[in-house]
Amino acid sequence: MRRRWLAAVAVSMAGLLTLTACGSGDKAAGDGKSGQKKVEVFSWWTGPGEADGLKAMRGIFEKNNSDFTFYDAAVAGGSGDQARALLASKLQANQPPDTFQGHAGAELQGYIKAGKLEPLNFLYDELKLKDVLPQELIDQISVQGQVYSVPVNIHRSNVLWFNPSVLKEAGISAAPTTIDEFIADLDKVKKTGKIPLSIGSQWTAVHLLESVLLGSLGTDAYNQLWTANADWSGANVTKALENFKTILSYAGTPQEDWQPAAKQVADGAAAFNVMGDWAYGYFHNPAPGGLGKTSKTDFDWAASPGTDGTFMWLSDSFTLPKGAPNRDGAVAWLKVAASKEGQDAFNPKKGSIPARKDADKSLYQDYLAWDLEQWASDKLAGSIQHGVVANDAWRAAINDAVGLFQQDHDVAKFQQALADAAKNSGQ
Ligand code: GAL
Repeated sequence: MRRRWLAAVAVSMAGLLTLTACGSGDKAAGDGKSGQKKVEVFSWWTGPGEADGLKAMRGIFEKNNSDFTFYDAAVAGGSGDQARALLASKLQANQPPDTFQGHAGAELQGYIKAGKLEPLNFLYDELKLKDVLPQELIDQISVQGQVYSVPVNIHRSNVLWFNPSVLKEAGISAAPTTIDEFIADLDKVKKTGKIPLSIGSQWTAVHLLESVLLGSLGTDAYNQLWTANADWSGANVTKALENFKTILSYAGTPQEDWQPAAKQVADGAAAFNVMGDWAYGYFHNPAPGGLGKTSKTDFDWAASPGTDGTFMWLSDSFTLPKGAPNRDGAVAWLKVAASKEGQDAFNPKKGSIPARKDADKSLYQDYLAWDLEQWASDKLAGSIQHGVVANDAWRAAINDAVGLFQQDHDVAKFQQALADAAKNSGQ
């Protein structure tokens, strides 16, 4: 296997805990901890598409656990920016939910190093999880031989979604495979009056940035940015950021979140959108959770430009926080999240592939069959926005730098801000 996993990274929790809690939308707030049987499951899967995945896994949980009540403590907002900030304040106040969704990699390492999580080796032994999960993934969620979460899936970040009819109208016969082709195609679409590239809230610009960095720098140079030998000041990074600036200049009006931006492609208002494959669940799932669209006709996909052969990955994983009010209930949830049945219910709806190696492949059709193939053969790079390569403080600093750049378009200043974010990351 040509696997090139990034080394698990140490991280300080300090930056994460200083984030401001948003305080809104937390259905658990003020609810107390009296309900012994209630299992509070914290995520951000409330929106169209992703909520379908959670609902499917919840169904299995409820079927297998009549003793417990599932309590959905999801906080709205794609990519969990609001949820993660609120979670940080809850953990700081030692008021954890029973279980929460955390990304494998640097983000989870932050929770581990801060002493917020119970090791799950007992569960791994009982369920023989080391036999069914890829060792490289276990490494991302472990510290000193202790495993701290249950990964439920693998998502792909570097996907270019497009509307075939809009491309045809612009005279584009195939999805662009390089950044230069992409820019040329964006310009062709612009001439038709359609939106060349749809975009959502600020985090979706960071999501776009990670694909543009990977597509511009190549896999080895991208992966190097997250090591001790990183050079954020090099000419290759300058060029990548110039590309980002050009690509952003073709973006439409920022939408409220990733779903309305993706929908502009499905509706034929926009040509392209760079988004993780949770967009597939949204496009493909039947209404009301999804748009019920047909792939290849209403929407199509390709590796984001310049990244074919590399899988920019992330993984959603569930944890057992220290002091979970309903620890038994949390363990019952983790057992479902770890199970073949749970993963095979969740992932086809979520638009992701299972973390388990023994899942039922026949359930993963269409985009998801391609995804499984790419996962088995591609080189790997880790996502920035979704917690793999940068700890949460670093990710937040990159987020801020992108926000400023969207206003001033100053590449030199942006590059300096990214170099400073790396230097100050404490990672
Ligand atoms: C990611 C998360 C995915 C999906 C996406 C959009 O961070 O890992 O599961 O929810 O955000 O909200």
